[in-house]
Amino acid sequence: MGCTVSTKPDLYSQNGDADPYKKKKVAPVDSRLPLTARQKFQITKSWKGIARNMENTGKSMFMRLFQSNIELKNMFTGFEEFDDLEDMRESQQLENHASLVMYTIDEAIASIDDIDFVVELLGKIGRTHTRTDFNPQLFWRIEQPFLSAVKETLEDRYTKNIEEIYKITFRFIVDALIDGVVAGVNERKAEAEAEAEAKAEAEDEQDNEMMKKTMHNGDKEDNCIESSKQKDITVIASTKQR
Ligand code: HEM
Repeated sequence: MGCTVSTKPDLYSQNGDADPYKKKKVAPVDSRLPLTARQKFQITKSWKGIARNMENTGKSMFMRLFQSNIELKNMFTGFEEFDDLEDMRESQQLENHASLVMYTIDEAIASIDDIDFVVELLGKIGRTHTRTDFNPQLFWRIEQPFLSAVKETLEDRYTKNIEEIYKITFRFIVDALIDGVVAGVNERKAEAEAEAEAKAEAEDEQDNEMMKKTMHNGDKEDNCIESSKQKDITVIASTKQR
């Protein structure tokens, strides 16, 4: 007889790895972030491999985007001149656009512990896409190109587990961008409505002023008529008296 002490298998000590989450006290993950604390740690660590190769990863992502969605090319300033995608690969335009997207993702991942900041950042970037008539669903077109470019850069470090974490993170990013687009569109609509209302009020005000003036002039005319009638009566009366 005796008692058996149940011990949970410890994967980390079994294979000799130290799980940093067991050593450090980690702050709980913000409920808005769809990652576990461990996944958050893994994406931050894995992203370092991308951050060191940001330019090439970004270019590869955009090349892949245009290879499968050539119709999107002309949405971007300066891309119309490229008939051949290979010429685009070495262009400054592609580098600039790739950097804008990659630096946004970089900042979001680097700030993953401050979800308020991340949501605000992505919201702002989403809003910039409302300058043109942008369908926010288009953001999803870059998902596969992004994942493939990350895979290309990380090579064998791109495991199934890491792929899943990138997918979840990317979807979180796109959702926040879309929220930004929707908020931007609603803000513009509200602004346009407020402007139209202010214009209508100003027009009403103008109409009222005109009406007042017309009535005032009408009163004056009536007074004139009244006083000239009065004069006529006085003249008639005085004529009668004579
Ligand atoms: C994770 C995805 C994306 C991020 C983080 C992102 C980020 C950005 C940023 C930072 C800018 C510059 C904004 C500014 O001028 O202040 C931009 C511009 C733009 N983005 Fe995105 N973007 C993403 C995906 C896409 C996709 C998939 C499309 C098209 C289907 C797109 C279309 C555009 C366009 C048309 C512009 C304006 C470019 C120009 O003026 O030539 N974006 N984007």
